[in-house]
Amino acid sequence: MIAYHKEGNVSTKKHTAFYDETTKKLYREELFGSCGFEGIYSIKYHQNIPPAVTESIVLDTINCHWEKDMPLQAMHFKTHMVNDGDILSSKISYCGNDRVTISIVTPTKNQDYYYKNAGCNECYYVHEGHGCLYSEFGEISFKEGDYIFIPKSMIYKLLFNSKKNKLLLIESVAHFRIPNEFKNNQGQILEHAPYSERDFKTPTLKEPYIEESNVKVIVKKNNKLTQLTLQHSPFDLVGWDGYLYPCVFNINDYSPIVGKIHQPPSVHKVIECDDFMVTNFVPRLLDYHQNAIPIPYYHSNIDCDEILYYLKGNFMSRNGIEEGSITLHPSGIPHGPQPGKIEASLGAKEVNEYAIMIDVYREVFISPQARSQLDKNYFKSWVE
Ligand SMILES: [Fe+2]
Repeated sequence: MIAYHKEGNVSTKKHTAFYDETTKKLYREELFGSCGFEGIYSIKYHQNIPPAVTESIVLDTINCHWEKDMPLQAMHFKTHMVNDGDILSSKISYCGNDRVTISIVTPTKNQDYYYKNAGCNECYYVHEGHGCLYSEFGEISFKEGDYIFIPKSMIYKLLFNSKKNKLLLIESVAHFRIPNEFKNNQGQILEHAPYSERDFKTPTLKEPYIEESNVKVIVKKNNKLTQLTLQHSPFDLVGWDGYLYPCVFNINDYSPIVGKIHQPPSVHKVIECDDFMVTNFVPRLLDYHQNAIPIPYYHSNIDCDEILYYLKGNFMSRNGIEEGSITLHPSGIPHGPQPGKIEASLGAKEVNEYAIMIDVYREVFISPQARSQLDKNYFKSWVE
C-alpha cells in the first residue's frame, strides 16, 4: 500500500526455480494479489505448498442485522458495552452496510488460532492496548494510537501484552489506498502530504516457523466462519516482496494541515478506498484569519453518511460527547456545531482533540447493539 518492500530471500527473477541451498528443496512461490492481476500484490516464497488443506468445517454463521426501520436522524451512541473474549468473540458491530462494518473490539484474552478475513480488508485503531501483530509477512509491534492495516486474506494473530484493550475496527470490502492527492504520478508520497513513507512501520520477517503441522486457521468469508486445517504452518515464508502487506501508522505521526480559514475534513485524510475515506482530527493550531470561525460550518454532505469516533480531548463543536462516543450524521440532514459552540470558539488558537471520521459514500445503518445505546435526545441537540 505504501511502497515496494522486501523481506528475507526472494529469487533474482520471479517465476523461476528457487531452491533452499541446504536441502535443495524447491520453494513454493505464491502471488498474493488484489483486483485480479491488476491491483497491488506481493510475491511470497513458502517452504511448503500453501493450499495444502486437510479439513474444512463451518464453525459459525454471521448474521449481521442492521436496523433499517430507524427514522432519519442524527445519532449518538456510546461504546461502553464490553464482551469478554478474543478479537472475534469480543467484537460488537455498531454500524455499516454490505461494504463496510464499524465495530469495537475489546479483547480480554489472546486468540489461540490463526485468523484470516477473506472478505474484507481490516483497519484496527488501537484506542487502548499494546502488543504485536504476527503475520505471514512478519511481525510488527503496536501501541495506543496505532492504525493497523491488514490486507484481505492475510493470515495473522493479533496478540496483546496489555490487560485493557479497546480497538476500533473498520472492515472494508474495498481496498485501502493512500489518497491520490498525497501522491505524485510515480506513487511517492508528496512533500505536502500530512505523513511520509517513513511514518509507516512494516513487518520484520523472522525465521520460518515450520515446526507446526495440522494448523487451524479460522477464515471469515460469505457470512461464515470456516475452520481450515492446514497440513503445514502458514508462517513458513523465507521471503516476500511487493506492495501488499500489513503496516502500522501512529496518529501522533500525523502532521495536520492548517489554513487561514477553516479547512474541510478531506485535508485530514489518512486513507481512502472506493467506498469511504478515513480522516483524523488531531491537536492542531486553528485558522489564522482575524475573523475566522475555527470550528466547522453547517454542512449537508449529500452523498455521505458520516461516522465519527471520539478518542480524547476537547470536542469543540459538540455537546454531550465523551471518549468512546460514536456519532452518525446521515445525509439528508445538515449538521454542524450545536447552539453556542460557534460563539464559544471565536478567537481560539488551537484545539486539543483526537477523533476519527469515516465518511461513507453509501447509506449506513446501525446495529441492535448501537440502538440499545442510543442517546435519544441527540438529534434534538441543535434546537435553541
Ligand atoms: Fe460533518
